[in-house]
Amino acid sequence: MAPRWLSLALLAVAAPSTLGSPTGGRLDTRDDSGNEAFSPPYYPAPHGGWLSNWAEAYEKAHHLVSNLTLAEKVNLTTGTGIFMGPCAGQTGSVPRFGIPNICLHDSPLGVRNTDHNTAFPAGITVGATFDKELMYERGVGLGEEARGKGVNVLLGPSVGPMGRKPRGGRNWEGFGFDPVLQGIGAAQTIKGMQSTGAIASIKHFVGNEQEMHRMSSVVTQGYSSNINDRTLHEFYLWPFAEGVRAEVGSVMMAYNDVNRSACSQNSKLINGILKDELGFQGFVLTDWLAHIGGVSSALAGLDMSMPGDGAIPLFGDSYWGPELSRSVLNGTVPVDRLNDMVTRILAAWFKMGQDQDYPLPNFSSNTDDEEGPLYPGALISPSGVVNQYVNVQADHNVTARAVARDAITLLKNEGDLLPLRRNDSLKIFGTDAGPDPQGLNSCADKGCNRGVLTMGWGSGTSKLPYLITPQDAIANISSKAEFHITDSFPSSVEAGSEDIAIVFINSDSGENYITVDGNPGDRTVSGLHAWHNGDELVKAAAEKFSQVVVVIHTVGPIILEEWIDLDPVKAVLIAHLPGQEAGNSLTDVLFGAYSPSGHLPYTIPYQESNYPESVDLIQQPFGQIQDDYTEGLYIDYRHFLKEDIRPRYPFGHGLSYTTFEYSEPALSVITPLDTEYPPSRPDKGSTPTYPDTIPPASEAAWPKNFDRIWRYIYPYLDNPESATAVANSSETYPYPDGYTTDPQPAPRAGGAEGGNTALWDVAFSVQITVTNTGRRPGRAVPQLYVELPDSLGLDTPSRQLRQFEKTKTLKPGESEVVTLDITRKDVSVWDVVVQDWKAPVAGEGVKIYVGESVLDSRVECEVGGGCSTL
Ligand code: NOJ
Repeated sequence: MAPRWLSLALLAVAAPSTLGSPTGGRLDTRDDSGNEAFSPPYYPAPHGGWLSNWAEAYEKAHHLVSNLTLAEKVNLTTGTGIFMGPCAGQTGSVPRFGIPNICLHDSPLGVRNTDHNTAFPAGITVGATFDKELMYERGVGLGEEARGKGVNVLLGPSVGPMGRKPRGGRNWEGFGFDPVLQGIGAAQTIKGMQSTGAIASIKHFVGNEQEMHRMSSVVTQGYSSNINDRTLHEFYLWPFAEGVRAEVGSVMMAYNDVNRSACSQNSKLINGILKDELGFQGFVLTDWLAHIGGVSSALAGLDMSMPGDGAIPLFGDSYWGPELSRSVLNGTVPVDRLNDMVTRILAAWFKMGQDQDYPLPNFSSNTDDEEGPLYPGALISPSGVVNQYVNVQADHNVTARAVARDAITLLKNEGDLLPLRRNDSLKIFGTDAGPDPQGLNSCADKGCNRGVLTMGWGSGTSKLPYLITPQDAIANISSKAEFHITDSFPSSVEAGSEDIAIVFINSDSGENYITVDGNPGDRTVSGLHAWHNGDELVKAAAEKFSQVVVVIHTVGPIILEEWIDLDPVKAVLIAHLPGQEAGNSLTDVLFGAYSPSGHLPYTIPYQESNYPESVDLIQQPFGQIQDDYTEGLYIDYRHFLKEDIRPRYPFGHGLSYTTFEYSEPALSVITPLDTEYPPSRPDKGSTPTYPDTIPPASEAAWPKNFDRIWRYIYPYLDNPESATAVANSSETYPYPDGYTTDPQPAPRAGGAEGGNTALWDVAFSVQITVTNTGRRPGRAVPQLYVELPDSLGLDTPSRQLRQFEKTKTLKPGESEVVTLDITRKDVSVWDVVVQDWKAPVAGEGVKIYVGESVLDSRVECEVGGGCSTL
């Protein structure tokens, strides 16, 4: 078998061939003449460092950057090349000041391609818990493991895709199909991760909603997600704003274009929205091999090129590296821009305390062997110890199990068939209950669907250190379980009248560089149906058994119609993507040690045609797909409500073994909304300043007697003086339209990380008493949805999730008073003309619903009119 790094390298070469010249030719293809999507220029890149909570980190960064040479600065902005080190990507280093190669590595659910790590449940599972504490705890676990392995930047959480396309391959990496669920999931994860010193990287900014055609090939260009300003702000940008507000250290740009400008060099997105309006203080990096232009991306606000390679990976070429040194020396990229890039990178590094005993990488994602080449991409490379097999798991299995358990979503439970008793006679069917017959981690990046589905496939994975399958866990508890780990129903099985059949089915998806059973990441072939003839298996079991429980492991919505209404199908559970503790978390719920408390992070429709056509996957043999977001805000439940389509199971649905009653609702005004628009933002604070003189050419010259690694990306130039000569000539550079070095006026919607702080003033708060009225302990998830008044003059979804809380475990008869806060932003719309968030004065006409799903409201309040139970 070819070594892992080689097969991945071949894939990398075959898949993406990037377009555009190093000078960023694609900026000039922008067109604002007609109705075509257009991304306006926004220059210059705003400096970081104007917020007090980053002041100390920026001061340290400023001091250091003031002493760096040109080559040292460039080194920190550019990856050393794909497979040129242990991590998915690493920058160059500055040994003179003790700054190592900064290691950037996947994934959002665990440290990828290593050993002795935890394979946590995937994002979609975390979303289904609706549990803010568990979201945070899992973030801490992820951060501790990243740190323990020497990963400086852990590449997650993912909040893009947002589930616009139900068949989209990577929806499962994020927290659900709603911006508030995604935003809270992201913020809690980031806070947890960064509390350990690891830097989080929220991704993919933005509009990466399908896998196919996300990148360019020889005949196609990565698609353009054409999103209007209001939809961007109220839907797709929302979770990124929450991530920035949580002080995220880095943001990864998406592969695709937004409004016909590639995200990695889209000045409006990076300079305008992210750095100016959202006040982002950290650094911006490309997705892997998404860098398509050198000067263009630098001017547009990009701070780091990952993994550093240029149009053709593995040849030691880069759009930055030596080319960035050259463009600074020849005066094209202002020194000021380079200084800001490096200051941002080092400020994030200092802010997380990575200057204090942060471990170096002690693993290699390229091989499992103890020793091997240090730079596998170099072909001829020095060797050494690359894997130290450091165990970073601590007791994270406890969190992993709790998340997987508290996510389990009970869709139906007729006649209270669940929970099971230990001595029930059980017949278990489906390969999804068992192990991968070819062995744990038998396919790279989970690019196969064998055994219980613990996660999707692609870069968003980690290896399973061990796996408790449902089969293992059920066998541990039940004395009367018979296993048929097959997807073809065995005709010889006898069904006794007391027998309960448990059928396991699944639906998988992943990232585009791997195709599984004909699905190139997106669920093109499988659609929203169970894989491996799962529907047939359930139907066959229902023909023989009078009591059937269906357990589903799935990446997202799945159509249940072939069997959900069959009389024997009494109970259905969605166990999402549970990670290593698949079995234990399931039996915790199946046998009643815990009541299920997960809720659907998306809608389950009757049929796929219930979705708008505009969210279908798009394929095109040539040119560039223009993916117009014509449905606007009407994604998932927002669409079903607008079109009055009844879903099979609504967003937020999830039963328990007990029941809850909501009583004594009360609405209080906390900060009166005296004005439509928030109070004016504060002025920007000062930012670090540096001399703006072009450094001497000698700073980019090769050091004497330097031992070069072949194909490694260095910042040095053979003849740096020739670049300086250009700076002194009359040659001018064709800057993009709208380019300027005069700072833009501070956007009125900005003011702090995430935006104007007044947007997060708590405007109202709703209190309710939740009482367990059943006979078993359980946890409720009161979800708060708002309906905004027509007086805002805009078409707005009739329900939008704005807040949720999860009660502690309530004993039968026990109550908890739950407070749900609503901010100014929660009741605002984005005013595209004023470029600010607009709320109804005093919240006049805002309606608030609290309930157990988007369709199951238990309490209604009207601002000014009080609350009632329904
Ligand atoms: C590409 C993926 O889109 C991104 O999510 C990942 O972090 C990088 N590859 C690095 O593996």
